[in-house]
Amino acid sequence: MTDTPPTTPPTTPESAEPQVIAFGRPPVRTDAGRPRVLAIANQKGGVGKTTTAINLGTALAAIGEHVLIVDLDPQGNASTGLGIERKARRTSTYDVMIGQAPMRDAVIPTAVPQLHIAPSTMDLSGLELEIGQQKDRAYRLRTALGDINKGTPAFDFTYVLVDCPPSLNLITVNAMAAADSILVPLQCEFFALEGLSQLLKTVEEVKKTLNPTLSIHGIVLTMYDSRNNLSNQVVADVRQFMGRKVYDTVIPRNVRISEAPSYGKPVLVYDLKCVGSEAYLRLATEIIQREKELKAG
Ligand SMILES: Nc1ncnc2c1ncn2[C@@H]1O[C@H](COP(=O)(O)OP(=O)(O)OP(=O)(O)O)[C@@H](O)[C@H]1O
Ligand SMILES: [Mg+2]
Repeated sequence: MTDTPPTTPPTTPESAEPQVIAFGRPPVRTDAGRPRVLAIANQKGGVGKTTTAINLGTALAAIGEHVLIVDLDPQGNASTGLGIERKARRTSTYDVMIGQAPMRDAVIPTAVPQLHIAPSTMDLSGLELEIGQQKDRAYRLRTALGDINKGTPAFDFTYVLVDCPPSLNLITVNAMAAADSILVPLQCEFFALEGLSQLLKTVEEVKKTLNPTLSIHGIVLTMYDSRNNLSNQVVADVRQFMGRKVYDTVIPRNVRISEAPSYGKPVLVYDLKCVGSEAYLRLATEIIQREKELKAG
């Protein structure tokens, strides 16, 4: 670890060793009134990160939690999937990350009670250029979330879910530096485990340099197809490799899940009784149970 800014931003090319360069200590935070922050991360594209952010967020809200989804992907799929039109994104996570606005200014309600979102726009893709040389560049999200439950309006979020882009770049590093825990969606397909070791290495690096208390909350297997032998093999392999870190709940491939975003709705609103909705409700219950076990030590 060094104390001088690097000459290049800390981008992590997916093929190279992760290089997370930390400066100083993490901003101090107290746990009183602070939400649990879960980063939903996997540098692989299309594995179900956004689908999990939207539907786990909705399921947690449905069982009584107060949830904020932070859309940290320039694609803005979580925002679109929750029906937030572009013109409604007056303050975005980009404004927050470059220090132009407090997080509370970006927070807007969704159609789901107790579920809010801080939306993103394409501007976020320029973040690295904008803040890559700043000393506190890896802690922007952590700082922005620090006082989310203080001030006016009076938010009382119990969970923050951060939807990450498909990359191990500065945005994802910010999410990991801000998070208590990481939730990793893995698609039930042949290359499921490919890239996982790279992700785990990055988590270790972030732990060492930016966020010593970071943990892996769990791995959620997505797009499971029971008629497909390969799906079953992937579930067996991932459980063997990652053991108890893998949630019992497996999210099935379900057409209702994939249809819902085009209506700007979570699947639980689009079709509460479908197998996809039931699975995300089970996942939410399992996550809360894991949280209780963690708290009990
Ligand atoms: N369980 C599921 N059943 C059917 N389709 C699904 C399921 N989960 C996700 N999908 C579909 O798969 C595609 C990729 O999902 P999603 O956008 O959530 O992945 P992602 O990891 O966020 O992608 P990106 O890396 O681009 O951000 C989407 O079209 C989504 O609707
Ligand atoms: Mg996504």
